[in-house]
Amino acid sequence: MLLAAASLAWLIALETVSAQLLFPANTHQYTFSSTGGLNCSQASSAGPRWSDPGRTPRVAIIGAGAGGSSAAFFLKHFDSLAGHDLHTDVTVYDAADYVGGRSTVIWPWNDDPLAVPHSGSVDALEPPVELGASIYVAANKNLQKARRVFGLEDDAYDGEDGGMAIWDGETFVFQESSGGATWDWWNKAKLLWRYGRSAFTVRSLVQKTVASFVNLYHPEFVSQGAFTSIANFSAATNLQDAASVSASDYFSTQGISDLFTNELTSAATQVNYGTPVSRLHGVGALVSLAATGAVAVRGGNRQIFENFVGKSGARLRLGENARVEELLKLDAGVRRRRQHRTSEEEQATERTTRAQWVVKTASGIGGGTYDAIILAAPYHHTGIHFVNSLAPALIPKQPYVKLYVTFIITNATTPQASYFGLKEGTPMPNEIFGTFTTPSTRKPTFNSLNYLKPLPSAIGARFGGGGSNETDTTTFHVVKMFSDRSLLVQQDDDGTSTLLDDLFGRYNVVKTVEKTWFAYPRLAPVRNPERDYAPVRPDQGLYYVNAMERLVSTMETETISAFNIVSLLLNDLYGYTPPSSWAEWPEEEEQS
Ligand SMILES: *[C@@H]1O[C@H](CO)[C@@H](O)[C@H](O)[C@H]1NC(C)=O
Ligand SMILES: *[C@@H]1O[C@H](CO)[C@@H](O)[C@H](O)[C@H]1NC(C)=O
Ligand SMILES: *[C@@H]1O[C@H](CO)[C@@H](O)[C@H](O)[C@H]1NC(C)=O
Ligand SMILES: *[C@@H]1O[C@H](CO)[C@@H](O)[C@H](O)[C@H]1NC(C)=O
Repeated sequence: MLLAAASLAWLIALETVSAQLLFPANTHQYTFSSTGGLNCSQASSAGPRWSDPGRTPRVAIIGAGAGGSSAAFFLKHFDSLAGHDLHTDVTVYDAADYVGGRSTVIWPWNDDPLAVPHSGSVDALEPPVELGASIYVAANKNLQKARRVFGLEDDAYDGEDGGMAIWDGETFVFQESSGGATWDWWNKAKLLWRYGRSAFTVRSLVQKTVASFVNLYHPEFVSQGAFTSIANFSAATNLQDAASVSASDYFSTQGISDLFTNELTSAATQVNYGTPVSRLHGVGALVSLAATGAVAVRGGNRQIFENFVGKSGARLRLGENARVEELLKLDAGVRRRRQHRTSEEEQATERTTRAQWVVKTASGIGGGTYDAIILAAPYHHTGIHFVNSLAPALIPKQPYVKLYVTFIITNATTPQASYFGLKEGTPMPNEIFGTFTTPSTRKPTFNSLNYLKPLPSAIGARFGGGGSNETDTTTFHVVKMFSDRSLLVQQDDDGTSTLLDDLFGRYNVVKTVEKTWFAYPRLAPVRNPERDYAPVRPDQGLYYVNAMERLVSTMETETISAFNIVSLLLNDLYGYTPPSSWAEWPEEEEQS
């Protein structure tokens, strides 16, 4: 999940570098064993084709985030494809009471920060801020297309104007100056001065990776059929080399200076994945740096996922009552004996019956029997209990990073210089990224600090600021911080001061909202691809979207994984292979 740090990536975008420095796009060098080529080990879980023309296969999708919502949408896309009978009947489950998963929004200045304001109220005029996945980028073709066809507006993701700096707990190891084109030039000069050619080389590596990655949308790639293993996918997209080693080792073998990796790249991986370069694989770092053209959907990225589900026509079951507790596999034979009386019919269905799955919710409400399950949530966090399936043994335990997201409403225009050991009056950045891989002995207490926006005076007034009376023009700002521990704990004996008081000034913090997530997987190097990646289809009729996250965890790649799974499912049921990705599907052929 790309959370932020567009400005870090823009730094290495180095507009002054001309095109000839770039590697040529690494086109069409992929080969992988697809549905047709993995007969031996995977045939049993593919199952026989659908052979019940009188009934539409029922599909349950568990999880309504980027992966689950887009899976529902892609199934509908093929369901309404002229000239094919690729029908499915889809139900989406999510234990949360909204669609979007780890992409969701917050109104931290409101009394109930998670409640959508009543339309027509003053509160409804002020757009929310992202609580989770914040940005997507130009190369994210599914999200770009979705935003366009759903008529949503995008916003450049920038936050308030002001300088950016990288903090290592003792000093600002790198600091950008703010204010227009001249400064841009100056900042790039500073970058080159400190890091030499590393910035160029990293830019090339990122461009090369992106150019290779976008091939996966290409008809030539998609029409080979779905991939059934992430190991195959990572090899086919040329990502496995970078995934197999730590980002530190990866960049070092590519000739990048350790200084650049430990300061700049590590700050990017820290804000994007809560993990320093030494403990995260090279792909995680490349993705963290590949934020060129970062945008967000105005009013919240989750609107894309709401549209995916809405346009899919799927049944949607949200909230605690829809929490899936158990998945029970019915073997094909068991069902056959129940359903068919005459021996002739039994014979007829023997070869063609597929396993089915019973979905049980914790509440006992809204479950049912399905012909396929698309699991689109991190398995070990779902608490789902499998019965009569070996799937759990095949999904490697995947730890996630526990992230604290803290929103601060403050009238301080920047953090305090004193917190960073600087003299009062020193010009301060309002975007600070922590790096944990420099030789400093004190480490930062947070991963990132970002001034998102000033609040309009009508809202500021409720904190006693601008607008409460004519002579008071105080502006309140919304600041977002990421950390691996709570920033709200009291830190002195009289129990009044918190770290935030030191950071923003004792009387300057008027409101805080803290939320914790298991935000993203720990992207440890993938030493053994066959064992470390979860299977895409762990059992017959069971598909696992989040297998992708071990290689790359972003909103877009969850939709890519979902598209692949829909392609695999349609192949298993109907022998159909899509000719192209949805992103490159001609829009005049869209049915909606
Ligand atoms: C896959 O299985 C089919 C039918 O059993 C067989 O004809 C085909 O040659 C197999 N393909 C591979 C690549 O093994
Ligand atoms: C694809 O996966 C199969 C089995 O997991 C493996 O034998 C094959 O080498 C893989 N192909 C690539 C290109 O990684
Ligand atoms: C912020 O507001 C508080 C309370 O009104 C006030 O004491 C403090 O001086 C203000 N700080 C700034 C930086 O304006
Ligand atoms: C308006 O706000 C200022 C600054 O907080 C305060 O000094 C003044 O007393 C207020 N005036 C009224 C009429 O409330």
